[in-house]
Amino acid sequence: KGCKLVGCGSAVPKLQISNDDLAKIVDTSDEWISGRTGIRNRHVLSGKESLTSLAVEAASKALQMAQVEPDDVDLVLLCTSTAEELFGGAPQIQKELGCSSNPLAYDITAACSGFVLGLVSAACHVRGGGFRNVLVIGADALSRFVDWTDRGTCILFGDAAGAVLVQACESEEDGLFAFDLHSDGEGARHLNASIRYEETNGSLVTNCLAYDFPPRRATYSNIHMNGKEVFRFAARFVPLSIESALEKAGLSGSHIDWLLLHQANQRIIDAVAARLELSQERVISNIANYGNTSSASIPLALDEAVRSGKVRTGHIIASSGFGAGLTWGSVIFRW
Ligand code: ACO
Repeated sequence: KGCKLVGCGSAVPKLQISNDDLAKIVDTSDEWISGRTGIRNRHVLSGKESLTSLAVEAASKALQMAQVEPDDVDLVLLCTSTAEELFGGAPQIQKELGCSSNPLAYDITAACSGFVLGLVSAACHVRGGGFRNVLVIGADALSRFVDWTDRGTCILFGDAAGAVLVQACESEEDGLFAFDLHSDGEGARHLNASIRYEETNGSLVTNCLAYDFPPRRATYSNIHMNGKEVFRFAARFVPLSIESALEKAGLSGSHIDWLLLHQANQRIIDAVAARLELSQERVISNIANYGNTSSASIPLALDEAVRSGKVRTGHIIASSGFGAGLTWGSVIFRW
């Protein structure tokens, strides 16, 4: 059984925050941010907007492009680290999309690699499980976990959602060629947002029992990052991962029409392209307008490139996600 990508869509919040806006909050400048990262602007959730509404908008657009009705979706994968529901956000999206046959919907949490893992999971479900139409949504709102007084991190992130529809097809039409996936828990010390405990007023209960009860109330800390280490990790391992995926697909760099990396830093994108000896004309980048949108960045950039006519039917794309975990992974696919 084969599987192919048949639709894409994306959505971003209305509120935009420029580098000059950020320079009013922290000690930074447009020159520093754009020079070190390539980022000029980011979109951030505000008012009644929610991650769920962005994800639903992106998924609806992907379904429209694919000309597939919500009732015909048989799996919804929400790739996110910032779900609005502790027990998983995907079922809510399935409901709001109006998928009336109660298809399976679940979350995949793998930070900025989430969307690549979502694509690979979709392919496995199609090939091994008989699923026909799988929505893969990458959506994140890291603005909710950023310390807006920390100039080292708050300049980097934005909120967004992107989606693709992966559809079963005959094996000759197969469009998901190969993948290469990794993680390294050792590197989590360089990039994390860990569980944190708040004091509760449970002393009355604790005093009645002879042990520490109830458990402390849990939340998550802001994002902590050692930027230099993350940069080194990405520049070293992402090219190796893409080369490995290409080898598994029986392809070489010359077969790639587009390099589509997680949009974390323009300098990382440039470094990886240089290592793979790919010219700038074959690299997709929209980081200037949106910043690092985590698991949304790849489908958001793909959607823009498809709708602008840059990526056309039959083009071969090498895509790689990398980030917290640490996690990283590459997938070679045909649009
Ligand atoms: N404005 C002005 N100065 C700043 C800023 C800022 N926004 N941030 C840091 N600086 C200063 C530092 O204080 C430091 O000053 P000092 O030399 O006086 O001590 C100096 O600039 C250099 O700081 P570095 O952190 O060493 O700067 P670097 O060149 O490494 O750039 C950056 C930092 C942009 C974060 C870079 O390391 C990077 O992009 N790393 C990769 C980050 C990334 O991709 N993260 C992925 C996360 S995805 C996920 O999974 C959530």
